[in-house]
Amino acid sequence: MKGIILAGGGGTRLHPLTKITSKQLLPIYNKPMIYYPLDTLIKAGIKEILIIVAPDRAGDFLRLLGSGSEFGVKFSFEIQDKPAGIAQAFTIGENFIGDDDVTLILGDNIFEQDFSEQIKNFKSGSLIFAKKVNDPERFGIVEFDENKKAIQIVEKPTEYISDYAVTGLYVYDNRVVGIAKNLSPSGRGELEITDVNNEYLKLNELNVSEVFGYWLDAGTFDSLLEANILIAKREGSKIV
Ligand code: DAU
Repeated sequence: MKGIILAGGGGTRLHPLTKITSKQLLPIYNKPMIYYPLDTLIKAGIKEILIIVAPDRAGDFLRLLGSGSEFGVKFSFEIQDKPAGIAQAFTIGENFIGDDDVTLILGDNIFEQDFSEQIKNFKSGSLIFAKKVNDPERFGIVEFDENKKAIQIVEKPTEYISDYAVTGLYVYDNRVVGIAKNLSPSGRGELEITDVNNEYLKLNELNVSEVFGYWLDAGTFDSLLEANILIAKREGSKIV
């Protein structure tokens, strides 16, 4: 199993905080944000991790993370020229992935849960993780039938279909590279991860597991603040 952290994008929603640095390098209490998704992959026993970054921030990530030896893993780095979609991670990462399976995590997603058993036991198809949210219009949303089987995934639905958001952690078998290569850009001009998931759904090989504990997508001012408060509490800060 290989790992990819997608940490590109312009972070425009967080301007001016992200005018001179990447969103994924902003502090979450006592560590840069990317340390949290990195920890999720390392805990799952993944030893080879590709970090995909925006061109103007590559040096900062390299300086911060280095070779990976400090973390007991090996890092590779790739540049994403433009934020052309999350699913582009699999075409950028094609050589890195080789013949292996791959776990992708978004660089701004922070999980409490330890996914190591599920990732180590992964055999084939795909495995994604859903969490009930109050603001389903912000996410990829999964609709279930009465047997809790996924029937469709819709990116940022304008009409209510369900409260279950697809979180930014995705486990796929090697077919994901071919699937990503065949995608067409969506209306917003991106290669959508939701389209990848719907391809696996069509094959009847999409498994959805519910997330326990907190999950934060630290991409807005409020969720960034919430992440800081949660982690500060967890680390025993005396002021929260
Ligand atoms: O956080 C989970 C959600 O992430 C999912 O529920 C959605 O299905 C998925 O589309 C995504 O939605 P967002 O609106 O949060 O995506 P955003 O464009 O903010 O990108 C998420 C992260 O990935 C962000 O840290 C930047 C990075 N990114 C994104 C794109 C589109 C890249 O590095 N490159 C990209 O091309």
